Amino acid sequence: MPAILFAAVVSFVLPIVYLVLWFKMLGRGGGGTYGAAWLVAVGTGATMWLTSMVLSIRAIVLARRSQQSSAGPVVALVLTILGALTGPASVLFGLLLAGGSAHGRPLRVRGRPRTASTTNNDRWIEHDLVPDLDGLESEQRAAHATRWTRDAQAEHASIAAFARLSLDLLALGAPPDLVDRTHHAALEESRHARLTFALASAYAGVAIGPTQWPAALRGAGQENIRAARRRVLLESILDGLYGEALAAERARCELDTCREASVRKVLAVIAEDEARHADLAMEVVSWLWDRVDAVAREDAGRLAEAIVSRAADDLEFAVASGVVDRLARLENDAMSCDVRAAA
Ligand SMILES: [Fe+2]
Ligand SMILES: [Fe+2]
Repeated sequence: MPAILFAAVVSFVLPIVYLVLWFKMLGRGGGGTYGAAWLVAVGTGATMWLTSMVLSIRAIVLARRSQQSSAGPVVALVLTILGALTGPASVLFGLLLAGGSAHGRPLRVRGRPRTASTTNNDRWIEHDLVPDLDGLESEQRAAHATRWTRDAQAEHASIAAFARLSLDLLALGAPPDLVDRTHHAALEESRHARLTFALASAYAGVAIGPTQWPAALRGAGQENIRAARRRVLLESILDGLYGEALAAERARCELDTCREASVRKVLAVIAEDEARHADLAMEVVSWLWDRVDAVAREDAGRLAEAIVSRAADDLEFAVASGVVDRLARLENDAMSCDVRAAA
């Protein structure tokens, strides 16, 4: 019957389509512009969901009237209701695929992390940072250069991410302390970028710096306050609470084995600052918690659980579990306030 067919497509087929398009949009399936296709798919899904809901309810009513079995229409209705969960879940999972960065907070343009390209310039190099290159084979130097260039691009992008966050916080009416600390974090990311571009350049044997970056001008688009609150909440969980804490832990672990003095200096700065940025993200999440609706809070909980289930190693799992614990404490605090208020 058409109602069951519609419901099955809405519940099982379209969420896979959303996920594949997310995957393409995030550049892990070959890149390209899939945003419009994703919006069309979501629009089609919403239309089909409504149609499926109407068809199933109508079929149930008609079956009751003609005193026939309504088992089929009821199955269609259950599947349709299930579609209201699988669709948003696939979108959340897609956001997760955008990556909790191991380098801190990324700049997202339409959900996708972006960085500037690099070119030969020395404007972003901290000149008094020179690692010891003695005894390194050319392949080892090339590998170090590649790794630190990638890190430098991510650190450079984090400056823009905090600039965007400060605008978001101003738009949402955040207290000045949060705005000040966000600007301070942007300056720390600027230092990380200069330190890491210095390491990349030293290992490469040629100056490396960022190019112009027009993609950073593309904003989050037209959003109402409710949507902006939800976005900032979810990004602060994924990129701040998780991504920055993971970056801090990775730097801390690397410090245990690294013997090169310049690299140790950079890792120590990054470990300390990124841990503070994760705490700042928690402050943002705490401030937003009472200002978002219950649906956004449920999305936040699902996102945290998805981060845990995606953890690829013990370190990721430990950091992700920490995110769940911090959110649970927040939820418990909110509940105890409700109880106190009711008493
Ligand atoms: Fe950071
Ligand atoms: Fe950083």
